[in-house]
Amino acid sequence: MPESTISVPLEIYRYDPKVDSAPRYERITLDLPPHTPVLTALLKVRQDRDPSLTLRYSCRSAICGSCAMQINSKSRLACETPVGPEVERHGRIVIEPMRNQPVLRDLIVDQQPFWTQYERIQPHLIPDPAHPMPEGRENPMTPEQVERFKETPRCIACGACYSACPAVEADPTFPGPMALAKLYRFVVDPRDGRTQDRLVSIQTGGLWLCLRCHLCTEACPKDVRPSERIRDLKEMAIDAQGATEHGSKHAVGFLRNIRETGTLNEFKLVRQTYSPLEMVGQVGQGIRMWRKKPEMMKKPKKVAGWEDVEKIYRALEDSPEDRQ
Ligand code: SF4
Ligand code: SF4
Ligand code: FES
Repeated sequence: MPESTISVPLEIYRYDPKVDSAPRYERITLDLPPHTPVLTALLKVRQDRDPSLTLRYSCRSAICGSCAMQINSKSRLACETPVGPEVERHGRIVIEPMRNQPVLRDLIVDQQPFWTQYERIQPHLIPDPAHPMPEGRENPMTPEQVERFKETPRCIACGACYSACPAVEADPTFPGPMALAKLYRFVVDPRDGRTQDRLVSIQTGGLWLCLRCHLCTEACPKDVRPSERIRDLKEMAIDAQGATEHGSKHAVGFLRNIRETGTLNEFKLVRQTYSPLEMVGQVGQGIRMWRKKPEMMKKPKKVAGWEDVEKIYRALEDSPEDRQ
């Protein structure tokens, strides 16, 4: 029996900076079985309609990480995204190159920014010279030690998280979710000799630019959960060095603020985050906040049921693993 097909309207981003003055979208409709991967649809376009369509792929099995692209505005692997659900949800499939990296041609981006930031923070094993790796034999870890970073080795360096990340878009010096997830892996690796240095340097190296939006975790095809590892790094960095940056001061201030009264006092939080000199630059913002919420200048009172808030804090202090 012939396989049933659906009509798949594709809108494919096309741009060759050497000849095109601006990008355009090529509209092609194919009849395909609904389980067909978007990558297969693109290869069919290239084979039957337009051999100049340029894209990157290799394994076609969600292993090599080469085929990440924007599919209906989400960073996905084209080889594991079937056309059927996309057409059902959006009525068409818009295919674009990954974000946050310059387009070289059509669906291929220049991944240099991604790798430059990656290399900058050295997410690889750097043994302590005082405790060199044993020569000619393994340096084993216990199952409990491996358990702490069990998700990160699943990463296939596809860059979907980097493409989805608004912090990279706002500041290209942000290391990116993949690099930070890998950094975490070596911070908790007992064989690494740079744990403290890594935590200190990443505080000023962009860690606190992360907005905790979790878009990287949503985009990751391998469930590496980079945003959760970045949260762990933030906690470890504060434990290692205290709150030294605006981001960490803000996080610590927020926690203290809620603990004191059960409610957030935004004026106090600004004072906890900025030095008196820095607050001079915040005067305009402060006046706008005061006009909107004059009550925030008053000494906050404890909310009804504040005792329960305190109980939650104490419980979390007694069992930090429940923070997950
Ligand atoms: S959680 Fe942080 S790293 Fe992840 S996408 Fe959002 S800003 Fe980027
Ligand atoms: S963390 Fe996930 S999304 Fe990011 S590069 Fe690795 S596999 Fe891809
Ligand atoms: S082609 Fe290898 S991950 Fe898609």
